[in-house]
Amino acid sequence: MKLKEKYTSLKELEFVKIKSKYNKLLNNFKTYQSELKNFLIEDALNGQDICISTTYLIFDKKEHYKNKNDISKLSLLGYVTITNDSISLDSKLKEKFQEKGIIYKALPALKIGRLCVDEDYERRGLGRLILAFCIKRAAYLNKQIACRFITLDAKRNNERSKDSYHFYHKFNFQILINKNKTKEELIRQKSGTTALYLDIYHIIKKLSIC
Ligand SMILES: CC(C)(COP(=O)(O)OP(=O)(O)OC[C@H]1O[C@@H](n2cnc3c(N)ncnc32)[C@H](O)[C@@H]1OP(=O)(O)O)[C@@H](O)C(=O)NCCC(=O)NCCS
Repeated sequence: MKLKEKYTSLKELEFVKIKSKYNKLLNNFKTYQSELKNFLIEDALNGQDICISTTYLIFDKKEHYKNKNDISKLSLLGYVTITNDSISLDSKLKEKFQEKGIIYKALPALKIGRLCVDEDYERRGLGRLILAFCIKRAAYLNKQIACRFITLDAKRNNERSKDSYHFYHKFNFQILINKNKTKEELIRQKSGTTALYLDIYHIIKKLSIC
């Protein structure tokens, strides 16, 4: 693949659950978010072993097929860690859902615990496709068990190009308002994380899953 070519379809990617045989590849992964690299190297496999998170490593499908017997030749494009979650409804959010006839205290969700694209592959469509993979996973969960939302904690940064809130906002993720700060204060935040959610009801219905 040429340097600036974009990935446009999930068919171009291979999502593989993390296994110890990939350990050597993890050290070469590059990101300005050191916490996300540390998690990948130190915690992702264990999290999966003890059934608290599932981590998918993402490869170029053609490259993965060509080099599946020689892992050292593979480039790790990114990774995503997902787990089960629920949204607790308090104050304003509760009112919003009550208007839709939803009166429960908590609603089912899939959480994107970690999502990271290697620095060398940023802005080539991978983040968008990884989100599409997660949305598809969450939607298809409904075949067996309800899942209405995607949740995540977006990493914030002083530099707009490194502030993942703007990335998620582009894909309609909404701020999960809490008691302590207003929506405007949460948008302006320049460090830490901001809790976001996406309602996937219309996607589930469009796919006729339930
Ligand atoms: C945030 C991240 C996942 C985006 O991945 P990516 O592969 O670069 O994103 P894509 O190329 O798919 O971009 C999709 C769209 O989002 C936009 N976008 C990406 N990052 C953005 C940002 N920080 N601010 C605003 N827009 C952004 C792109 O310009 C693109 O828009 P377009 O379709 O109109 O051209 C990636 O930059 C990353 O891994 N960052 C470090 C780790 C991190 O912050 N992860 C999130 C933690 S919760």
